[in-house]
Amino acid sequence: MVGAVPAGPEPGADHRRTGDVFGPDFVLGAATAAYQIEGAADADGRGRSIWDTYSHTPGRIANGDTGDVAADHYHRLGQDLDLMASLNLDAYRFSISWPRIQADGTGPANPRGVDFYSRLVDGLLERGIAPVATLYHWDLPQALEDTGGWPNRDVAAQFADYAALMADALGDRVPTWTTLNEPWAAAYLGYASGVMAPGRANGAEALAAVHHLNLAHGLAATVLRERTAPSTIISVTLNLHAARDGGPGGPEAVERVDAIANGAFLGPMLRGAYPERLLADTAHLTDWSFVRDGDAALIHVPIDVLGVNYYSTVTVRSWDGRGERVTADGHKPSAASPWVGSDEVVEFLPQPGPTTAMGWNIAPEALEQVLVNLAEAFPALPLMVTESGAAFTDVVTPDGAVHDDARRDYLHRHLVACARARERGADVRGYFVWSLLDNFEWAHGYDKRFGIVHVDYETQRRTPKDSALWFAALARDRVLGAPGPGLRSRS
Ligand code: FCB
Repeated sequence: MVGAVPAGPEPGADHRRTGDVFGPDFVLGAATAAYQIEGAADADGRGRSIWDTYSHTPGRIANGDTGDVAADHYHRLGQDLDLMASLNLDAYRFSISWPRIQADGTGPANPRGVDFYSRLVDGLLERGIAPVATLYHWDLPQALEDTGGWPNRDVAAQFADYAALMADALGDRVPTWTTLNEPWAAAYLGYASGVMAPGRANGAEALAAVHHLNLAHGLAATVLRERTAPSTIISVTLNLHAARDGGPGGPEAVERVDAIANGAFLGPMLRGAYPERLLADTAHLTDWSFVRDGDAALIHVPIDVLGVNYYSTVTVRSWDGRGERVTADGHKPSAASPWVGSDEVVEFLPQPGPTTAMGWNIAPEALEQVLVNLAEAFPALPLMVTESGAAFTDVVTPDGAVHDDARRDYLHRHLVACARARERGADVRGYFVWSLLDNFEWAHGYDKRFGIVHVDYETQRRTPKDSALWFAALARDRVLGAPGPGLRSRS
């Protein structure tokens, strides 16, 4: 549904060009997620999430890090809001911690949890920054995991109840809502490979999770539509995989990856059906009987914008060069692989560099192509890049600055990719840097720094990196390549 992307930029494509203009209608923002920045794990009646359990399980997270304190954003809200204003952000994409609102995932809203997000939203609006609220960025209440988690259908209905609570609490002030962040990661990394919470490794359960996340999206989008003003923008954020053909059996491998990673969500959400390819590739694992009559209509509801998270590419070919199953018994059940149903078939090849500190290859041309391919596949649907950014090894110099030229260059190239995609007809409405602050990078703990603002975790001191100053100038001047830092001047 996204299709293949080429192995490199088209000849002559310049992703370092300057002079691109991002007019006032193009949203330049920054993004975070609750568990990664908030800390305050026990404050004000917050319940436990699967990430509390997972991060406190020995061996799961680098250095034994947890999100207990993180960037302590919960206690530093006013300061962080001022920081965002100083960076001239048009918008701020944050997520709401479900267990702050419903400690056990059910029942009435916890007023103290709601109050935090209400103050956040008011503080943004006072500063002229548009709130973009994500309902689910992976922190499922542990109590719901204890009832079966996302493989249990009931969780989708409980998510809709939570969405209703938030729509009623904040719907009058939040112009843009996102139901889910990266259900791919929640389902496949949480339930198939187990490298994210809750850490299960069962392909069939992951596919049930895929379906119930899709259902949760549809139900929540409907609830939001019913309970908010007609002008409210309702969206979902997907991390669409940009797959390159890596040789023998490449087209078949690309098709499989596209179906598992992209079609599993785009299909039901935007077309009303799962791709045949996905059903065929996973038939030995599940009969998909968790899909009930009527579900397709519940999931396939209108959205106003599609959020796209993009970091890097994958290059794939088929193990046997023909795209056929190669194990003696035809196929083995997936175990500890996110490529459910295709882990024995698809070979992932090393990516050419350059790479970030995550080891992810830098390929802005693939972002451009993903946006163009999406625009062709879904012509009427506006797009928003809801995450783009990079971890690098940052050094705080004696003068207290962080000269993160590589990150600045990364952001520059990916903004050019957006501009070029727009020239090629894609309706790209905005770009959110991942991330505003250095934060808890899931299984990598605090080792990997994605922020445009440096966080000293000992003192919680925030220091805008050079990339932040550059982004602030761009958000002020609206022209890519404008020289010099641009703090504190929204006019
Ligand atoms: C995305 C997540 C985000 C962050 C970045 C690096 O997959 O949505 O929380 O971890 O990757």
